[in-house]
Amino acid sequence: MRQYGYRIVDELVGHFVRLPRTRPISSATRKEMDRLLAEEAPEEGTDPEKVLDFVLERVLKNSDLLTHPKSFSFVPSPSNFVSVMADTLATGFNVFSGGWFLSPGSSEIEIVTINWMLKLFGFPVQEGGGLFTSGGSMANLMALTAARHLKCGEDFSKAMVYMSHQAHSSNLRAMRVLGFKKAQVRLVSVDENFAVDLSELSSMIEEDKRHGLHPICVLATAGTTNSGAVDPLDEVAKICQKEKVWFHVDAAYGGAAMLCKCGKERLIGIEKADSITVDPHKWFFQPYEIGCLLVRNQDSLFSTFSEHPEYLRDMKGSLEEINFFDYGIQLTRSFRALKFYMSIKTFGLASFREAVKRAFDLADEVQKWLEDRSGWEVMSKASLAVICFRYNPGGLDSEKLNAMNQFISDEMTRSKQAILVTTLLWNQVVLRMCLINPRTKFTDVQDVLLFCEKKAQEYLRST
Ligand SMILES: Cc1ncc(COP(=O)(O)O)c(C=O)c1O
Repeated sequence: MRQYGYRIVDELVGHFVRLPRTRPISSATRKEMDRLLAEEAPEEGTDPEKVLDFVLERVLKNSDLLTHPKSFSFVPSPSNFVSVMADTLATGFNVFSGGWFLSPGSSEIEIVTINWMLKLFGFPVQEGGGLFTSGGSMANLMALTAARHLKCGEDFSKAMVYMSHQAHSSNLRAMRVLGFKKAQVRLVSVDENFAVDLSELSSMIEEDKRHGLHPICVLATAGTTNSGAVDPLDEVAKICQKEKVWFHVDAAYGGAAMLCKCGKERLIGIEKADSITVDPHKWFFQPYEIGCLLVRNQDSLFSTFSEHPEYLRDMKGSLEEINFFDYGIQLTRSFRALKFYMSIKTFGLASFREAVKRAFDLADEVQKWLEDRSGWEVMSKASLAVICFRYNPGGLDSEKLNAMNQFISDEMTRSKQAILVTTLLWNQVVLRMCLINPRTKFTDVQDVLLFCEKKAQEYLRST
């Protein structure tokens, strides 16, 4: 066991050390992967070291590295080694983090760390609560489930939910999972900064009420995935208070901005929400899977999710001795809180604050570089460390611009040097960078932008 474990630790350390020198992209077709891996379940065992070699070579080498300093797309996951070890520990001890009765240690750590989060977001620690989830999608699903339960009870046929069309797709999926019809979700327009249009939101709510419908929840985003936009949270809170609807904030990636002064100022009003989604496996530098749902009043989760079957009668618990299985969807839960706890204890919150602030500064630096240099057009300014831009030397129509920027991104992927894919803003193809990785240096970004310029010139010469 020791030999096997030490070998795996060595491989992990090697992975972290080699990371900046490794290409972050692995691409393979299904056919190629089938050739490498497809087989029947083996009846006979194999030497564990050989299985490990096989996995390292054929499986792990065929995974993109989202912790890589040149991983700019989606929401990167710049994980840290302490948390990786903490996860190993939690898995090794196979801690059941469902109920107090079976694991007071892990339950207490989850209470402690959730309290840290409540405080960070300005939620009341006494009545407030929450729990760690597999990720943001699950936290959003649980928030919408609680909103529906508390505002409608069992009949939600007239319930209406509002969010901007820039809200994350997991919220639309959650609405589907919950059995809402498409027409029960109102997608509100956004302004030039991609933040929800408040007057349209208010008039939609009024119109729906006039038609006998029942507005139950407004979902605002603090850090849209597309452009890092922040909905005007304080204003949305006022509308929610007036209309007596649930106010959920999806701050899955952006929530960590609360750690630094400039981020906290952007997120004013978040403390007025009824529930908040925030993902430690994004900008809190944790390995997958750890999301988090926070609620202003923990009874809202208990009344939505608790079930008491006879086989759990000895695990009743109490208000203080929380059974986390009563507050969410999962009964059996891994000890997710441990990695969050150990990494914050080890590095200190100040290091996290500094790392988050660095991302703000880096995004501003990249924006300035793009604005000062000819040929580039910033399409959405740096917001919570996300920036969107395109190469636009002038004189090209929008179809050609789209094709050229797609070409740049495709060439980047083909080179395997950086993960830089596109998104659409106002139907225009743009390159998008999410710069939350504290290992990313400005020169990493500059290398990639210079590569993009070279590819743009190639494209222009060839057309
Ligand atoms: C704003 C937002 N909400 C929700 C999610 C979904 O989170 P997860 O992928 O952890 O399920 C994401 C993922 O990027 C996100 O950016």
